[in-house]
This record gives sequence, structure tokens and C-alpha cells, in this order.
Amino acid sequence: MTEFDAAALGAQTQYKLLIGSITPRPIALVTTLGAQGPNAAPFSFFNGVGSDPAMVMFSVGDTGGRVKDTIQNIREIPEFVVHIVSDAIRDKMNICAVEYPRGVNEIAEAGFTQVASRKVRPPRIAEAPVAFECRVLQTLELGHVPYHLVIGQVVYFHYHEGIVDERYYVDTGKIDPIGRLGGRGGYTRITDRFEMPRLKLGGGVVEG
Ligand SMILES: Cc1cc2nc3c(=O)[nH]c(=O)nc-3n(C[C@H](O)[C@H](O)[C@H](O)COP(=O)(O)O)c2cc1C
Repeated sequence: MTEFDAAALGAQTQYKLLIGSITPRPIALVTTLGAQGPNAAPFSFFNGVGSDPAMVMFSVGDTGGRVKDTIQNIREIPEFVVHIVSDAIRDKMNICAVEYPRGVNEIAEAGFTQVASRKVRPPRIAEAPVAFECRVLQTLELGHVPYHLVIGQVVYFHYHEGIVDERYYVDTGKIDPIGRLGGRGGYTRITDRFEMPRLKLGGGVVEG
């Protein structure tokens, strides 16, 4: 084994070990709204955290002592829209990660189509195959950077046509999501999938 005591490592090293090891990470393209207009930015410290009600989280680190626009906006309007990043919109997502000054609308910079949300004030990106309108439940400040961990409740689900069937099964292949790997430009697609049934205690597999 190669071993490290975290106490002996700097923050940048621990970051490299985390993002190189926790892979692939889903990517949330998050839109928010503040006094200076709409904002969009991708975050791969992202996941679902519960389903009653549906809840998601993402984590935003300050950069050079600056609180990112996403967090500044959430402080003004505690609502956001999470978009799942598909292969088709990866280049536009990447433009949204540019550290533009506050007030620049990355949705427009990237050439995305901005549409009104149903239940929250921040706009939705039409090109994203999946979008969750969310209200903030809680924000936690963590660590020295600090990181702002945002937990939100999904209040409205959007899917492009043909992704969800009448029994609410989602066809992940039709979403064609990309995931983030370690390194500066590492990403993956889900083109090599397999299925493994869930095992029952005492033998057999869980149906459905
Ligand atoms: C794929 C991808 C994933 C990212 N994940 C994170 C993340 O989890 N946390 C974070 O603080 N920044 C992350 N970033 C960087 C932010 O997107 C970037 O700092 C962005 O400009 C912040 O925008 P804002 O100031 O408009 O909120 C990521 C960038 C990319 C391209």
C-alpha cells in the first residue's frame, strides 16, 4: 500500500488525492440569480443525498479569498437549478467554469438558451437534458478554504422528451451524462455500462 497521514499533507495535495480517487464524479451545472443577474457554474463535488423529499448537495470552495458568485447569489436568493451535464453540452459547460467577474451571465456567454423556471426565480438552461429546480434547505461552511456545502430540496423536475417513461424509469443512456475524473482535463462518458442485480439475504436477487 501507498499510505499518507493527512496531517502531513497540504491542502493542494489532499485535493489531488481526493479528485483523482473519487471518480467519476457527476457534474451539476448550477444556475442562480442575484442582484447582478443570472449565473451558471459547474460543480463536481455534487450528489443526491436523500429522496423524502428529493435532496441534492454541491460544494463550492472560495478561490483566492473570493466567495464565488454562485454562493453570493444563493445568499441573496436561496434557490438554484441543477442541470445534468451531457456530452452534447460539455463545451458550453466548460465556458461556464471560466472565472468571469460578478454580473457576467455565463448562460449567455456559453451560448445556452435561458428559459424561465416553474417554481424558482433562477432561470433554467434549455439544452440540459435534466434540470432540477431547488430551494436551499441548509448551507454549511466547512474547512479552512472554506467550502460552502449547499443542500437543496428539489421542487420541480425537468426532462427532455423520451428520457423518462410512464413508470418514472429514467433512461440514463439518453441523458448521455459526462463525469469528471482527476487531473486538469479528465472526463468520462458512460459508454461501457453493465448490470449487476442486488442480492437478497439467503440467496436470490431483488426483483424490480
Ligand atoms: C467540471 C468542473 C467541475 C468543477 N467542480 C467544482 C466544485 O465542485 N467546487 C468548486 O468550488 N468549483 C468547481 N469548479 C470550478 C467552478 O466551476 C469555477 O470556479 C466557476 O467559475 C465558479 O463560478 P461562479 O463564481 O460564477 O460561481 C469546477 C469546474 C469544472 C469545469
